[in-house]
Amino acid sequence: MIDTRPTVVDLFAGAGLFSQAFRAAGCRIIHAVEIDSVAAETYVRNVGPEIEVSDVLRMQPTGRCDILISGPPCQGFSTLGARRSDDPRNSLCLEVARWAKSMRPKVIVIENVSAFLESDEWRLLGRRLKGLDYGVAAFVLDAFDYGVPQHRRRSFTVAFREGIFIQPQQRRRVRTVRQAWEGLPTEPDGKNHHYSPKPSKVALARMRVIPPGGDKRDVMRKAPRLAPPSWWQVSCEVTDAWGRMEWDSPCNTLRTALQNASKGRYIHPEQHRVISLREAARLHSIPDSWTFAGLPTQVARQIGNSVPPRLGRAIATAVLRHLQW
Ligand SMILES: C[S@@+](CC[C@H](N)C(=O)[O-])C[C@H]1O[C@@H](n2cnc3c(N)ncnc32)[C@H](O)[C@@H]1O
Repeated sequence: MIDTRPTVVDLFAGAGLFSQAFRAAGCRIIHAVEIDSVAAETYVRNVGPEIEVSDVLRMQPTGRCDILISGPPCQGFSTLGARRSDDPRNSLCLEVARWAKSMRPKVIVIENVSAFLESDEWRLLGRRLKGLDYGVAAFVLDAFDYGVPQHRRRSFTVAFREGIFIQPQQRRRVRTVRQAWEGLPTEPDGKNHHYSPKPSKVALARMRVIPPGGDKRDVMRKAPRLAPPSWWQVSCEVTDAWGRMEWDSPCNTLRTALQNASKGRYIHPEQHRVISLREAARLHSIPDSWTFAGLPTQVARQIGNSVPPRLGRAIATAVLRHLQW
């Protein structure tokens, strides 16, 4: 029987969450490329063997596909990074135009941080895609509006050959940390990635003075001897540092170092520890059946880098609707 499902190629595929969203929506993944072999192992375990461990820059695209999806590295664009216009990773997004020129997909989707839309590379990419006769739409979505218990604003650039592209419809549901963790053992038992590292003595002392919704400023106020000199000297853009989550709110953006309390709002709402990897996966709407390869830091990176499945599914559905248009 002929397989009529739309075909998808995924560049910078990571652990495969964006691929999986398109697969779940009814597409056939025919090729994915990822440079990190550990993330690729996660891909194989959960999505399929279509992934190739390779550098997108060094490859020659072959064949055709209906949909080209990609999540190029965002560190050079992120407002939390140094945001360097000369970061060599920034130009990786232009690879999408090179692949599009060869593969002639009907629709192209590029996911990235929202600041990507203000970059020179995004403008250049848009010009190249228009030069290939694509219409280009770009918008920023908050994963929370699509049923993910996390505020996470990400840009989507969609290139298409016909008609206009309609953004996915919001499916706002009240989603909180409490709801996300329903049914999980309260204390991490180490099973199925329900693992949280033991805090150091000083980290534990700091956590003890941080209330739900609080952060490092509580330490500075209530226990100044636990605040290192750097906290008083530098202005840190991560206002969430040493942040504690709240039970009845969504969490803030989970980034790649989501088990490092100093990097964000990653402390459990009432226990004195950072969230477990499985708790992070739940907050990203990743199902419990999804297994990860790698060390905890590598798993955290795979989660923080990925498109939350519910948001990915909304995009995939909008793309498929567009193809029927
Ligand atoms: C933002 S993540 C993509 C996440 C993915 N879309 C998901 O939903 O799971 C970007 C990925 O690009 C990979 N990467 C970086 N440079 C690359 C290159 N030159 N070739 C292939 N992959 C690369 C990184 O290892 C990282 O996994």
